[in-house]
Amino acid sequence: MAREISGLGNLVGAFHFLDNLHFMSVKIDLHCHSFFSGDGVSSPEQLIEAARKKGLNAFVMTDHNTCDAITYLLDKGLMREDGLPVNDFLVVPGVEITTTEGHLLCIGAVLPNLKGRPALEVCHLIHEAGGLAIPPHPYDLFRAGIRENVLNTLPIDAIEVFNAASTLKRYNQSAFDYAIKRGLAMTAASDAHHYAAIGRAYTILKTDDFSVRGILDQIPKQNDLNQEYISVRDNLRKTWNNWLRLRKRKSVKDMLSSSDKEE
Ligand SMILES: [Fe+2]
Repeated sequence: MAREISGLGNLVGAFHFLDNLHFMSVKIDLHCHSFFSGDGVSSPEQLIEAARKKGLNAFVMTDHNTCDAITYLLDKGLMREDGLPVNDFLVVPGVEITTTEGHLLCIGAVLPNLKGRPALEVCHLIHEAGGLAIPPHPYDLFRAGIRENVLNTLPIDAIEVFNAASTLKRYNQSAFDYAIKRGLAMTAASDAHHYAAIGRAYTILKTDDFSVRGILDQIPKQNDLNQEYISVRDNLRKTWNNWLRLRKRKSVKDMLSSSDKEE
C-alpha cells in the first residue's frame, strides 16, 4: 500500500513537472522612468538595452503623467500595439499619475495626463482602460505616496512593497505589512530614473502567456520578488534630478522629428 501511495505521489509530481514546462519565469521591473519623465535621464532604448543585459524579460514604462515614451517606442517598432514582445523583450505600457493624494501607477494601459485628479477617480479610469492600479512607495514620507487612510478606500490590484529607491528600508516594510493585512498581491520595482538602476529590484511572474495580457493576468496573484536597493550613487543622482529639475522634459514630437532627421 505504501508503495502504491508513493507511486501515486511520483505520478502527481510528474504531472506538476510537465505542467510547469508550459510556464516561463518573466522577470519584470514594474516601475521605470525615461527622459520623457522630466526627472529621468535615459532614453527608452538605453533602458531596454540595460534591462536585457541584466537578464530581465520586460519592464513597465511608468513616466510621470505622460505616455509619450509609449508613442515613441511604438513608432520605433520596439513595442507592438497587440501587446506581444519584440525580439523576445516586452515593454508594457504604463504611467505614474500624480493624483491629489499621491502617486499611483497605472500598469498596462495608456492614459491621458490625469495629474491632479483624485486617486479614486484615477483608479476607476485605469480599470476602464484595462490597466492595473498599483500604489508605489505608499509609506515613504519623503516622497508623494498615497497614505494608508486613502489606500483603505481604493480598489487597488496590488501594492509596491519593495521600491529600490526607498528613502528608508522601514517604509518598504510598512508596505509589506499593509499588503499582508489586506491580502494584496505584492510587487518589487527599481523606480529607476537612470538606465544603470533598472532591474535593481523586480517581480518574477510565472506565466504561459508572455504578453501584456498575460502579465496583467498574473500580477494580482502572488509572485516572487527580487529585492535589492539602488546604489548610493544612483540614489544621489535621482535626488539631484528631482530637486533641481535641471533637465527639461523631452517632447515626443521633438524626439521623433530629430530621429527622422538622423535617418
Ligand atoms: Fe516613480
